[in-house]
Amino acid sequence: MIYDLMVIGGGPAGYVAAERAGHAGLSVLLIEKRALGGVCLNEGCVPSKTFLNSAKMFEHAKHGEAYGVTCENPKLDHAKVVERKNKVVNMLVSGVKAQMRANKVTVVEDEAFIEGRTAEGFCVKTSKETYCSKRLLICTGSSAVVPPIEGVAEGIKDGFVLTNREILDLTEVPKQLVIVGGGVIGLEMASYFNIAGSEVTVVEMLDKIAGPTDAEISAILKKNYEKQGVHFKLSAKVTKVTQNSVVFEKDGKTEEVPADKVLLSIGRRANIKGYGLENLGVLTDRGGIVTDCYGRTNVAEVYATGDVNGRSMLAHTAYRESEVAVNHILGKKDVMRYQAIPAVIYSNPEVGSVGETEATAKEKGREIKIGKVSMNFSGRYVAENEGGDGICKVIVDKATDALIGCHMIGSYASEIIVSAGIMIENEMRVSDIKEIVFPHPTVSEIIREAIFSL
Ligand code: NAI
Repeated sequence: MIYDLMVIGGGPAGYVAAERAGHAGLSVLLIEKRALGGVCLNEGCVPSKTFLNSAKMFEHAKHGEAYGVTCENPKLDHAKVVERKNKVVNMLVSGVKAQMRANKVTVVEDEAFIEGRTAEGFCVKTSKETYCSKRLLICTGSSAVVPPIEGVAEGIKDGFVLTNREILDLTEVPKQLVIVGGGVIGLEMASYFNIAGSEVTVVEMLDKIAGPTDAEISAILKKNYEKQGVHFKLSAKVTKVTQNSVVFEKDGKTEEVPADKVLLSIGRRANIKGYGLENLGVLTDRGGIVTDCYGRTNVAEVYATGDVNGRSMLAHTAYRESEVAVNHILGKKDVMRYQAIPAVIYSNPEVGSVGETEATAKEKGREIKIGKVSMNFSGRYVAENEGGDGICKVIVDKATDALIGCHMIGSYASEIIVSAGIMIENEMRVSDIKEIVFPHPTVSEIIREAIFSL
């Protein structure tokens, strides 16, 4: 049989594409070599959220006095947290499997290798069979970057150096955890393991944490983490990993921090090697597959969505890119836009950002107005956050008076930020936003407050 669409990789990009294409009546084959759900469901977004929820509950139990709640001797049982994480992951992976069945997608759990294009279409072989399809969608995702730093490769072999994959299966909380890279993964894991009892040190090359996040929000986040006991070494470049420490250079000096385990979270790289991509002549640039606004590669009928195109490396971007690609295959009008994709750090407190920051707007030469308020302008925030220091910032284009960015730190930021994304996507102006009714009392009202502060 010649399939209408063959999808390689069953993560958020692959399974959503397969689901949508199957639903539309295409014959779809999905090949996945590890586990359906990909990194997001099995060793990324979802498992880390189960960890962080347990940490949040533990923190509430420990620090309830200010709210009139005392709880004697609360404990966090890490082994149980991991057990629950596995239960949640299994449940969601089963859900994806059920969706594949419901949409008549054929799933092959094996490693795919692209042989090339023949008269039969694109031919992909697995350990048992060769499959052919009229179109190919590459959704092979990304892997943790492992730098050629002395001691890292050996550390990984020994289980001393971990990536996002292994850290989520640790059965014991390390006494001293050193995290290399103060980006999203590093910060989320720092939050959990600090609360679970590790002495956590984050070593970050830049002079700020949380990479592209608004500088003021990044500083507030760092202050909160430090208050909770996390140590930071900024402007610090890791040069060596020994068997029990991490060595780094800072201000021209060599320093060392002891470690029982090391988490490597210095970014991710698109998976473009080892599965025959070169047999198609697909163009890559800076490590990712080059795609257009429909997810098409330079090779006709070959698409690439999700982390593998290196554009945004977020599960929700992958969903949307895949929907656009499937719509393009179906001849439906749709196009991928990247200007209003929310980014969230599920830290404690949470960070939500969408659109331009002050820095990126200025880089683009846009004249902007900034509205900024304390999260304490929200009654619900005050009721729920004793001593909270969150803020919300809105960035408005002076020429059009439209909202082009929103950045916040505080409770529910992950859930609220989507509303700002909708406003940006729809190019809403300040006057339009002022007419929106937000439920009261909610923390989401903070956007309204920030807009009215302009
Ligand atoms: P990242 O790009 O967010 O952060 C990596 C950090 O490591 C950067 O701040 C960088 O300056 C630093 N770094 C690089 N080399 C270093 C060195 N030698 N020594 C010290 N610091 C060094 O990458 P991360 O945290 O690994 O996350 C990877 C991807 O996963 C991201 O693209 C993110 O989009 C995605 N992700 C998203 C999540 C979310 O949306 N909540 C959660 C987890 C991951």
